[in-house]
Amino acid sequence: MTDTFKALVLTQEDGKTVSTVKQLGNDDLPDGDVLLAVEYSSLNYKDGLAITGKGKIVRQWPLVPGIDLAGSVLESTSPDYAVGDKVVLTGWSVGEKYWGGYSQRQRVQSQWLVPLPAGMDTRQAMAIGTAGFTAMLCVMTLEEAGVTPDKGPVVVTGATGGVGSIAVAILHKLGYRVTAVSGKPDAEGFLRDLGASEILTRDEMSKPPRPLEGQRWAGAVDTVGSTMLARVIAETHYNGCVAACGLAGGFDLPTTVMPFILRNVSLRGVDSVSCPVERRKQAWQRLVSDLPAQALGEIGQVANLEQLPELAEKITNGAIRGRVIVDLNA
Ligand SMILES: NC(=O)c1ccc[n+]([C@@H]2O[C@H](COP(=O)([O-])OP(=O)(O)OC[C@H]3O[C@@H](n4cnc5c(N)ncnc54)[C@H](OP(=O)(O)O)[C@@H]3O)[C@@H](O)[C@H]2O)c1
Repeated sequence: MTDTFKALVLTQEDGKTVSTVKQLGNDDLPDGDVLLAVEYSSLNYKDGLAITGKGKIVRQWPLVPGIDLAGSVLESTSPDYAVGDKVVLTGWSVGEKYWGGYSQRQRVQSQWLVPLPAGMDTRQAMAIGTAGFTAMLCVMTLEEAGVTPDKGPVVVTGATGGVGSIAVAILHKLGYRVTAVSGKPDAEGFLRDLGASEILTRDEMSKPPRPLEGQRWAGAVDTVGSTMLARVIAETHYNGCVAACGLAGGFDLPTTVMPFILRNVSLRGVDSVSCPVERRKQAWQRLVSDLPAQALGEIGQVANLEQLPELAEKITNGAIRGRVIVDLNA
């Protein structure tokens, strides 16, 4: 085991966030009962906000960001994990309040970990990451609300993003007819390859809705929020369900009670950060069976630590398609 390893470290200088790739040692790492060799991490919207300083994500300075990681156990005092076990970690404020995945080694709390499910490697896990895990939670939420493929089409907003693209692929695999909403005019081929049957533009879905619009959707996965979420709710079928997980277009929600009280529409929030461990395990297991490996190949691009500042800027500008996998050994 080498003495030092590489990590991306965020510091604050004159109120600005500065990111630097540094050499650290095990003694620099936080307390925890498991030491990991991080193989892959990923770049999420939240990581973009943390690295660029555009959002108030970082709650401890200096911080190693990266809300996701996957790797193998190097040392453990936890009865639940042994040396060599492959694990995945998303959420729990890692990469915000606690040191995260942009480091070749990290020390963490064992209760944050999920064993990597059989049939998935660490690179695939990070092609999925928080974004794909959240997409799976959204699909499970729709299923629990009774939205089955025979009920009608499901709309996915922010469809070329991390959450959106994986939601499209999972829903298609499960037999739903999927409509994708995207602001990227050149993304039609990408979205159709993932399984979208119909593509709508961001502009048309961003028009403020009337309290009730024509009923188009049995269900929805919304990553955008604001007026687009209001429109999706106003267009949802009687008894339909909207799973809302994101705010890429804004955190407000200019809607009325009409879809809820006249159409029995339900709006279900989806949180991945504090999701209980049992549901996490279920979702990761479902991702092995319900997300086609071929879709992961189309969705993922690989980056190294040095490329992250530039990619962070891009993801906060909505300019990334699919998922960015961070290879800690690249
Ligand atoms: N609740 C949770 O636990 C949880 C977990 C993960 C993510 N999230 C949230 O979910 C959202 C999506 O995350 P992500 O990782 O998929 O991010 P992402 O990869 O950046 O994707 C977001 C997508 O939204 C669309 N978009 C961007 N700016 C927009 C705007 N101003 N108006 C309308 N659409 C816009 C773009 O897709 P098109 O160009 O195709 O329209 C973009 O690719 C974020 O708000 C994130 O914070 C929440």
